[in-house]
Amino acid sequence: MSATSYKPAEYWENLARDQLEQAEDAALLGAVCYAGAPLWLNRFFAHFQQRAVTGALRRMARQSDGGVMLEIGCGSGRWCHYLSASGPVVGVDIAPSMVRRARQLGRGPQFCLGSAQALPFADNSFELALSVTVLMHVPDEVKPACVKELVRVLRPGGAAILYERISPGIGAQVHPIPIDDWVRLFSDHGMRITRYEAYEYAPLLRLLHLASRMLPARARTSSLAADDVKRPAGGRLPMTAASLNGLPLPVRWAARLAVALSYPVEHVSRWVPGSRLANSALMVFEKT
Ligand SMILES: C[S@@+](CC[C@H](N)C(=O)[O-])C[C@H]1O[C@@H](n2cnc3c(N)ncnc32)[C@H](O)[C@@H]1O
Repeated sequence: MSATSYKPAEYWENLARDQLEQAEDAALLGAVCYAGAPLWLNRFFAHFQQRAVTGALRRMARQSDGGVMLEIGCGSGRWCHYLSASGPVVGVDIAPSMVRRARQLGRGPQFCLGSAQALPFADNSFELALSVTVLMHVPDEVKPACVKELVRVLRPGGAAILYERISPGIGAQVHPIPIDDWVRLFSDHGMRITRYEAYEYAPLLRLLHLASRMLPARARTSSLAADDVKRPAGGRLPMTAASLNGLPLPVRWAARLAVALSYPVEHVSRWVPGSRLANSALMVFEKT
């Protein structure tokens, strides 16, 4: 897939449809985390995303103040369903199959089809906007329009929680920017950053990925590089549980072991001074 051939609605719809066939992955983690990666690997990433997002929500103590919350790019609705315990929540996504699955997973939140750059809501409608790994998939020239929309629908004093990639990625659908650029993008639209936390160091998975690069090309059909596992347009998912099964047994064991050990290692990694080695960040902004 070339940089110019990324058609967001088509890409995410195809991904969601592929994943709908995976009965054991109701929340479509194989579409909303790392596309096509096995569930046990995506659960690792989802675990730390959840720590980041739920931690931010708890700190903001938004459990009972009654305003409506919005999730932009809600995917299968995993965050909307969590938020709906605290109050009314609306999820919007560009892919019809994502929205359908989100509706199937619970009745609390409302879900609708729409794009981040033209949100179908009135000005000042929401007290909180959440977006997890969505703007990192929006081409850089479109990002300002999305942020402008997010700010427009947020009431003054409202907050935005973002979890986005801050290190370079590969693939026409991956458009991360460094942390300073995220902060500038939001401050240019009247949002002040109030919190920042770095996530996804995953040193063991990086090592494993480097090691997998040394395997002969035929055995490398499934590398553990998160960036390599995005679905090519019209192609098969390059990394699936089945394709991992094609790897030599010691490599499969090493992969499972690396993921299991990565949980405690991730906690330790977060003490590494600075955030330059992190892949992702949680950012909290306030509309001034
Ligand atoms: C990586 S998934 C994350 C989904 C969800 N935020 C989560 O964390 O489970 C990205 C989601 O953003 C949606 N998306 C991508 N570009 C979008 C856009 N321009 N407007 C609205 N949704 C978009 C995709 O359809 C997909 O569901």
